Amino acid sequence: MSTLRDLAEEHTALRPADIDHLHRIAGDWQLLSDLSFADLLLWVPVDGDGTFLCVAQVRPTTAPTAYLDDQVGRIVGGAEVAHLEVAHRQGRIWREGDPVWYGDVPARHEAIPVRLRTGDGEAGEVIAVVGRDTNLSTARTPSQLELNYLTTADDLAQMIADGTFPPPRHPGETTSAPRVGDGLVRLDANGKVTYASPNAQSAYRRLGYASHLVGEDLAKLHRRLAGDPLEGTDAGNAVLAALRGEAPPRREIDARGATMLTRALPLMPAGVPIGALVLVRDITEVRRRDRALITKDATIREIHHRVKNNLQTVAALLRLQARRVAMPEARVALEESVRRVASIALVHETLSMSSDEAVEFDGIVDRVASAATEVAATEVSVGMRRRGTFGVLPAEIATSLVMVLNELLLNAVEHGFPPADEEAAAPAPADAPRPEATAPRPEVVVTAHRARKQLHVSVTDNGRGLPEQFDAERGGNLGLQIVRALVTGELRGTIDLRNSAGGGTEAAIVVPLARGTTDRLTGRAGPP
Ligand SMILES: Nc1ncnc2c1ncn2[C@@H]1O[C@H](COP(=O)(O)OP(=O)(O)OP(=O)(O)O)[C@@H](O)[C@H]1O
Ligand SMILES: [Mg+2]
Repeated sequence: MSTLRDLAEEHTALRPADIDHLHRIAGDWQLLSDLSFADLLLWVPVDGDGTFLCVAQVRPTTAPTAYLDDQVGRIVGGAEVAHLEVAHRQGRIWREGDPVWYGDVPARHEAIPVRLRTGDGEAGEVIAVVGRDTNLSTARTPSQLELNYLTTADDLAQMIADGTFPPPRHPGETTSAPRVGDGLVRLDANGKVTYASPNAQSAYRRLGYASHLVGEDLAKLHRRLAGDPLEGTDAGNAVLAALRGEAPPRREIDARGATMLTRALPLMPAGVPIGALVLVRDITEVRRRDRALITKDATIREIHHRVKNNLQTVAALLRLQARRVAMPEARVALEESVRRVASIALVHETLSMSSDEAVEFDGIVDRVASAATEVAATEVSVGMRRRGTFGVLPAEIATSLVMVLNELLLNAVEHGFPPADEEAAAPAPADAPRPEATAPRPEVVVTAHRARKQLHVSVTDNGRGLPEQFDAERGGNLGLQIVRALVTGELRGTIDLRNSAGGGTEAAIVVPLARGTTDRLTGRAGPP
C-alpha cells in the first residue's frame, strides 16, 4: 500500500510543506470524523487534468461508514468530484443538497478546502480538499449530544478551511490523545462549560467532582481538583491557553487516586475565538499499569542482582577447589571456569544496574578487559585500550557480546603473549634477537564503531599471531567455539579471525543492530 506521501509525490505538484500539513490532518482528523458522524476522505488535485486522488481515509467510530471499500488510491473525475472542484476553486466549504447513493447506502457529500497558512500567518492557497461523507441510512432526529458534536464539527471544518486546524504537534506526546468517545467538554468564550458528554461527566466524577459540569468555569475547576486553587496548575492553564486561541500540550490531573488526561483545543472558526474544546480520558488504569511495570522492572533487576551474587559464590567455590587440587591440568581447567563464571556474573551485575533493557556497554568492556589482563598476569604485562564507543546496547546483544569479547581478550593475552618460560621452551633460532630488545610493548586494542545499523568490533593484539596452519574458520577449542556460536547464532553477525597487518592477531566482528538501537545512541527518540 502506498503511503500518503508516496501518492502525493507521484501524482501531484504539492510541496513538501504541503504534504507535511496533509500528514498533520490525517494524524488528527479522527476527532472531526467522530464529531461529524462521517467518513473523511482526503483528496488532492492531480496535476493538471481536473481529477482528484484520494490519499487518506478515516471512518467514524461514532456512526456507520459510508464506504465499505477502501478509497485510498482512487483517482476520480467528472460529476463524482464536482463538489470537490467547487471547494478547491472557490476556497469555501461546499455542501450538496441531495443525497448520493453508494449501492443502497444514501450519503450526503460535503467538501472542505484545506489551507496551509503561510509563514507570516496569512491563510494560504487551497492545497487539498477533505470530503466529509455521511451515511444517511441510520439518520434520525439528532440528540442533544449529536447536535453538540455536529456544531463543534462544523467549527473544526471551518478551521481546516482557515488553516488553523490541526494545531501544531507537541513533541513527546506518546500516550494516544483522548478521543471524542472518551469524554468531550465544550466551553464558551468565557471558559464556561456549555456541554459535557456523559463520559466526560463520569471522568470528572472519578476525580471527585459530582455536580453537573454545565455552567462551570473549567479552568477554575481543574485548579480545584488538582488541589491548589491559587497557583495556576497545568491543566487549568491549558484551558486558558486554548481560550486564547493557543494549542497547549496535553495535561494530566491527579485527584483522589484517579488520573485524567486532558487535551484542550481552541475553537476559532474564521479566526474568531469562540471557546474551546476539551477532550478528557480517564487513564487511571493506564497509570496503574505503568506503576506495576516499574515495580516489575525493579523485581527483574533484583533477580539479576541475586543471580550475580550466586554466580560469584559459584566462582568462589571453584577457586577454592582450584587451590586444593594437585593435578595441574585440573587446576587450569577450574581456573578457566572461574573466569567464565565471573564474566557471566559481570553481565548480570550490569543488567541489575540498568533501569531499562539497555546497557551502556563501554564500561562493561573496560571492566572485562582489565579482568582479562589480571587473569593473565603471569610475567608479561599487557596493555589494554579501547578505541571508539559501543554506545548503549540492548540487553540481548550485550549479554552475548560480553561473552565473546571475554573469550577473545583472554585468547589475546594468553596465546598472543605467552609467558617467557613457554617461549624459551620453544626451540628458537640461536641468533634470534632477544624479544625484549625489539618487540613492541604487548598491547591489546578493542575498537568499536557503528555504521549503517551495524556494530563493528575488533580485538587486535600485537603478539605472536595465530599458529601456522591454524584453521581460522573452524579451528580452536571450546573458547573459539563459544565465540563463533554466539556471533553467528545469537548475534546474527559475522566473525573473521586473521593475522593482523602489523603482526599479531585480529578478530573482526560485525553485528547487525535492530532498529531503534542506533537512535538510542544519539539520544533521539525512535520512530513512533
Ligand atoms: N590472539 C591469539 N594469538 C595467538 N593465538 C591465538 C589467539 N587466539 C587464539 N589463538 C590460538 O587458537 C587456539 C584456540 O583458541 P580457543 O580460545 O578456541 O582455545 P584455547 O584458548 O586454547 O582454550 P579455551 O577453550 O580455554 O579458550 C589457541 O590455542 C591458540 O593457539
Ligand atoms: Mg581461549
